[in-house]
Amino acid sequence: TDRYAVIGNPIAHSKSPALHAAFARQCNQDIRYEAILGPLDGFRACVETFRQAGGRGMNVTVPFKVEALALADTLTERARLAQAVNTLRFDADGIFGDNTDGIGLVNDIQQRLGFAIGGKRVLILGAGGAARGSVLPVAEAGPARLVIVNRTQARAEALREQFAGVAAVDVEPCDGLAGQHFDLVINATSAGLHGESLPLPAGIFAPGALAYDMVYGNTETPFMAAARALGASRVSDGLGMLVGQAAESFFLWRGVRPDTAPVLQMLQGS
Ligand code: ATR
Repeated sequence: TDRYAVIGNPIAHSKSPALHAAFARQCNQDIRYEAILGPLDGFRACVETFRQAGGRGMNVTVPFKVEALALADTLTERARLAQAVNTLRFDADGIFGDNTDGIGLVNDIQQRLGFAIGGKRVLILGAGGAARGSVLPVAEAGPARLVIVNRTQARAEALREQFAGVAAVDVEPCDGLAGQHFDLVINATSAGLHGESLPLPAGIFAPGALAYDMVYGNTETPFMAAARALGASRVSDGLGMLVGQAAESFFLWRGVRPDTAPVLQMLQGS
């Protein structure tokens, strides 16, 4: 039995153990996956202890994703650009670090929701860690245009500079969206966690547009409600992204890609 774990603080409500147990059953993989509460000042030591005990890999969540980046010996480009690591794999030659959040998002949008990003006008709201992690995977899906808007415009501009030469990103001021239309609007802000939503102008959603919130909850999120009111054809929360990032981590560890649909259904039913 190979051991894996998710480390974070807090960790009690993590869905990762249930997700990976479901993937393991589905793919006939003999693994054990636990949740570890990492002390705020003891992330490295905690990871090392788990590795010494025979652990094969870990998921990393808030607030340790940046520390995990520093811990990894080798990094994927998408993790380096995200400046955050959510997946560690303990290899014979060192610690491998990746970030599967962005590809989890893109797979959920393109595969589950059947929305092809290629050639579409895409707007990302936010310029924090969640937005940064999604830029490369979204850009690689080939949108016609990728625009970032953030409450603090300077952070959006810093993001554009960071991706210069890698992904073409346009920055607009918050009040600069009037008269523009998008096929896909992704909420990567934490505004909804406070029950708020970024103000969007009428007409922002093109016909057939999808509004995707990276956040999820038991009820429709404030962003989803606002998007519906503004005429978005389809809205989705980010539960599928959560399952998607987990599936890509599982693939990095086990070399098999689980089918996410039944596992998402399991979560939605619980
Ligand atoms: P995360 O890792 O979740 O992205 P973060 O790095 O703290 O967290 O970024 C939070 C994002 O939500 C930022 O884009 C932030 O905007 P600012 O850069 O202007 O702070 C955005 N955000 C948070 N609360 C918001 C609110 N009430 N209205 C609009 N944007 C908000």
